[in-house]
Amino acid sequence: MIPKLKGTRDYFENDSWKLQKTFSMLENIVKKYDFDKVYFPLIENSLLFSKVIDSDVDIVNKEMYSFNDKGNRLISLIPEGTTSVVRMIIENKLLNVKNSLNYYYISPIFRYERPQKGRQREFFQFGVEKFGENSKYEDFEIISIAIEILKKFEITKYELHINNIGSSKDRESYNLALKKFLFKNSDLLSDYSKEKLKDNNVFRIFDTKNEEDIIILKKSPRIQEYISEDSTKRFDSFLNLLKENNINFKINDRLVRGLDYYNDLVFEFISTDEEKIGSKSTIIGGGRYNSFVSKMDNNFDSPAIGFAIGIERLMLVAENFLNSIKKKNIDYYITCINDNEELKKDLLKVASIFRKKNFIIKTDFSNKKIAKKFLNAEKYNSKNIIMIGDEIRDGFVMVKNLSDKTQRKINIKEI
Ligand code: HAM
Repeated sequence: MIPKLKGTRDYFENDSWKLQKTFSMLENIVKKYDFDKVYFPLIENSLLFSKVIDSDVDIVNKEMYSFNDKGNRLISLIPEGTTSVVRMIIENKLLNVKNSLNYYYISPIFRYERPQKGRQREFFQFGVEKFGENSKYEDFEIISIAIEILKKFEITKYELHINNIGSSKDRESYNLALKKFLFKNSDLLSDYSKEKLKDNNVFRIFDTKNEEDIIILKKSPRIQEYISEDSTKRFDSFLNLLKENNINFKINDRLVRGLDYYNDLVFEFISTDEEKIGSKSTIIGGGRYNSFVSKMDNNFDSPAIGFAIGIERLMLVAENFLNSIKKKNIDYYITCINDNEELKKDLLKVASIFRKKNFIIKTDFSNKKIAKKFLNAEKYNSKNIIMIGDEIRDGFVMVKNLSDKTQRKINIKEI
């Protein structure tokens, strides 16, 4: 037997049911905000990512699963969904038809990372992307969706971290100043940070867990000093909107995000439930990306904002809630009293009548002993068992309720 690859997982039985429940709950929430579902391929031309996302971003530079196909095209398994949605709206000229679009997706995502709890190489993301408008009210609605999701899943141990990273121009000047500072102090940095500096991936140094790095970083230039007045004003006004609506947040001026297409507002919902997911872990990440559409194709332009949730991480922190909701039981376990072929044909008919009425039916055509059939019906959590016997000739079946053990004879015409 060849086992599954490291960092991937199977979903079966209860876990599969919880996964489906999670998807349907998420979809029901975003549908209320008029978001439509989109599907995109899991494979894309590698250039789609490497051309529009900077080469110093780990997700694209180091973590992509890329290979040459039989036609010698360089192909990548998608390392995130936003880029594919942007490609989709440009390629299909969707913004020519409508001037605002609200899309959501549920997709497997692939990143070659070191697997650990809540970190896989293949995982699911649920993402929302909103195109066409650029106001603090849209930003607020996006944040509200995320909060509604956490509430529905009864997640209370989290923090909303927010930052203003300014325009791409602002960030360039900040990047230069930061690099200058880090090179000046490079002798004092850990090997991890030295490597990031060497790779020109300075923002990732903020992910360091090394205490000395953290002390040095505290003295580093702060992004706020490089952000334009307009952007700062807008950010402050958005924060006021959050306050007016009693939404708690933390301004985290070290929050930079792992992808580089963002501008101005970035945010993360971080779990503080150490018991369920270990040290602080990001469940939801997103932000504005107003220049990404035109960067991909300069014939198009549209402001946008969105976020993605890591489904496995969401399910880890929502474990109690997901365990508390009951799986839909089988309504009727239907079988025959003996191995008579005519009775088995009747079983088919009776099952079909019940299913037409939307009952959940499990059929058992086996020749097992009656006691075994009863045991099975209980094992599958069926509410009732029906043993088809000779009374079917007069149009009746015997139904036994498996919780209170009562029995009644019902006319199949009255189902
Ligand atoms: P991201 O922060 O790279 O953003 O990923 C979003 C979420 O995916 C994370 O917060 C985390 O919950 C989950 N995630 C990331 N890596 C893994 C992993 N290896 N295993 C399990 N879960 C993981 C994006 O991907 C952006 N496209 C989000 C976005 C949408 N921004 C704007 N629109």
